[in-house]
Amino acid sequence: MTPDRRRAALDDVLVATRDLWHPQPFRERRPGWLEEYPGLAGAVAALTDDEVAGLEDDREASLALVARIRPEVGGIASLVELPSFAGKILQDRGQRWAWEIPGRKRCQIEAFAGAAGGAGKPVLDWCGGKGHLGRLLALNWAVPVTTLEIDAELCAVGGALARRAGALQDFVVADALTAAGVPAPGHHAVALHACGHLHRRLVREGAAQGASRLDVAPCCYHLGMPERYEPLASGVRLELTRDDARLAVTESVTAVARERRQSGREMAWKLAFVAWRESVGSSGYRNFKPVPSPWMRAGFAEFIAVLCRREGLPTPGPADALRYEAIGWQRRDEVLRLSVVRHAFRRALEVWLVLDLAVFLAAKGYEVALGTFCPRRLTPRNLMLSAEIA
Ligand SMILES: C[S@@+](CC[C@H](N)C(=O)[O-])C[C@H]1O[C@@H](n2cnc3c(N)ncnc32)[C@H](O)[C@@H]1O
Repeated sequence: MTPDRRRAALDDVLVATRDLWHPQPFRERRPGWLEEYPGLAGAVAALTDDEVAGLEDDREASLALVARIRPEVGGIASLVELPSFAGKILQDRGQRWAWEIPGRKRCQIEAFAGAAGGAGKPVLDWCGGKGHLGRLLALNWAVPVTTLEIDAELCAVGGALARRAGALQDFVVADALTAAGVPAPGHHAVALHACGHLHRRLVREGAAQGASRLDVAPCCYHLGMPERYEPLASGVRLELTRDDARLAVTESVTAVARERRQSGREMAWKLAFVAWRESVGSSGYRNFKPVPSPWMRAGFAEFIAVLCRREGLPTPGPADALRYEAIGWQRRDEVLRLSVVRHAFRRALEVWLVLDLAVFLAAKGYEVALGTFCPRRLTPRNLMLSAEIA
C-alpha cells in the first residue's frame, strides 16, 4: 500500500474513533464512551491485573477487544503492520567499536545500520550523541561521517572513541534546530531516535537542501510540538494535540518489573493527591508540575504533605492520608483498565505521524519506504522511514 493511501485510511479510522482514544482517564474520570458502550466498560472493568498487562503488550488483542463494539477498529491491525527492514548482517567489528555502549543500545544501533544500508555518500549523523551509530557506519560503509550534536561533552567523548577505532568521523557541536546548510546536498542523513522537532527539521531541511537519502527512526513525537500538531504534508483531517502525540510513545516494553511497580505507585499516589485536591475544593483536573523522584521514596503521608505544601493546599491529617492513599490505588486500578481502550490506538497514531513525514518526502520527489528496523522488544520506537531521491 502506498504511504498516502495508508495515511488516508488511518486518518479516516482515527477521526472516526477519536472519542475512544482522545480522553485521558488519568484526567477524566469517566470518558464519554463509558455511557455509550456499557459492554466495553464492563469488559475492561472485569480485567485482572495480569490481563491488563497482557493487553498492554498485545496490540492485536487490544484492538480486537475494542473492535467488538466498533468494527472499524478491526482494520487498524493491517494498517499498522509494516515490513521488517531487518537488513544485511554487518561485518563483525568485534567488541572494540562498541566500547561504552550498553547492550540494548548496541543492538539497536547495529539493527539500524543493517536496515539503512549504505548509499556510498558522505553521512550526516543527526543528533548523534557520542556518535556510536556514526562510528559504526564510518567503519562499515567506509564513508566519511559527520556527527552533529548540541552537547560538546558528548562530542568530545565521541571524538576520542572515533580516533581509537580509526573511524573517519568528525563532530560538529551545533543546534540541529538552527544549523544552516545541513544536510549538505547529496549527502546521506541518518537519525536514530531524534526527538519530535529534531527529526521533523531534518526531514524538512533534508528535502530543502537536496539530501540524497534519509534514514530516520523517530521518537518522542510530542517534543517541540505546538499545542496542535502541524502536519508537514497536506490532505489529512485528523487534529492531534500534543498529549495525543505523547500517547504514541507511552509503551514501555523495556520496563523491568521493579520499574513497573514504581510507576504503578507513582500513578496511585498522584491520583490520591488529585482526589484530595478535589476534596478541598478544587474542581476539574489541572496539571501539576512533575514530582521530583526523591519525593516518591518516602511514605505516602510525607509525599502528599510535601506536594500539598508546593501546591498551596492544606495537608491531610493521618486518617485522611490513609483514606486518600486507598482512594489513589483504587483510582489507579480504574485508570489502568480504562486505558486499555486508549492504548489500543498508540501504534496507529505513531504510524500516522511517521506517514506524515513519508508523504511529505514523497511529494518532494523521494522514493519512500516505511518499516521496522528491529524487533519491538529491543525498542518500541522501531519504525524507520527511508527516503531516497528518485
Ligand atoms: C535520544 S538521543 C539519541 C542519540 C543517538 N542518535 C543515539 O541513538 O544514540 C538524542 C540526542 O539529541 C541531542 N540533541 C538534543 N537537542 C539537540 C539539538 N537541538 N541539536 C542537536 N542535538 C540535540 C541530545 O543531546 C542527544 O544526544
